[in-house]
Amino acid sequence: MSNSPIGVFDSGVGGLSVLAALQAELPGERFVYFSDAAHAPYGERGDAFVIERTLDIARRLVDAHGIKALVGACNTATAAAIGLLRAAYPDLPLVGVEPALKPAAAATRTGHVGVLATRGTLASGKFKALHDGLKTDRVRFSLMPCDGLAGAIERLDETAIQTLAAKYVGALGRFGHAPGEIDTLVLGCTHYPFIAADLQRLAGEPVRLIETGQPVAQQARRLLAAKGQLAVGGSSGSLQLLTSGDASALDAAAGRWLQVGAGAVALG
Ligand code: DGL
Repeated sequence: MSNSPIGVFDSGVGGLSVLAALQAELPGERFVYFSDAAHAPYGERGDAFVIERTLDIARRLVDAHGIKALVGACNTATAAAIGLLRAAYPDLPLVGVEPALKPAAAATRTGHVGVLATRGTLASGKFKALHDGLKTDRVRFSLMPCDGLAGAIERLDETAIQTLAAKYVGALGRFGHAPGEIDTLVLGCTHYPFIAADLQRLAGEPVRLIETGQPVAQQARRLLAAKGQLAVGGSSGSLQLLTSGDASALDAAAGRWLQVGAGAVALG
């Protein structure tokens, strides 16, 4: 079992930002990454659709690839379906992602945090519970559903990326370090780290951007260690890329965003 792969999935290329952190944390592991590009983006599709896709992908990764753990590298899918996944696979170590509100609340000095995420994530009961549990008299969160932004990143549509990023960051309010200004920005969708430089430029240099790749990778390590299922020392890692969409587009995205050694990627 310790030599079985870890499954990672997202609606598209966004989860590669989490995969990069997983590969850095667990370099000896085999990974199978599934991009559901034929059905992306998930953020504006509604729960029933996202739940059906998530369960279908999990079934495929378990049945055809014998994964030993599953990382839902998608905030939208985690919000809609992680409970159902846990019920369907009670023995499989499962890690989801959620917007990093907790670290942001600890980091902010002005008490004002901006959150960029998909409409689906922000509308979910899971997000509402997280948000309601963390907002206090000291910390408030301004929430921005970013319709179309993950899709633009998925298509590498530079014009749409710039237009939408400016629109949503601008609509959040004033950024800075004066009381009441936003000094911390949560990237609550795994596609957004790929445009972190644009978001940083729009928000301003002193603003801190927070994403979730590393804590997710550390949680995956903890769960596998607890089950004695970490890859044995000295084993070399590998990556298989799977997609319901265009394989060459995923390959190009992986080449652009991952430290992929030649021959490490099998498209299937
Ligand atoms: N990358 C995903 C997320 O973290 C999904 C974006 C989308 O498909 O809308 O929410």
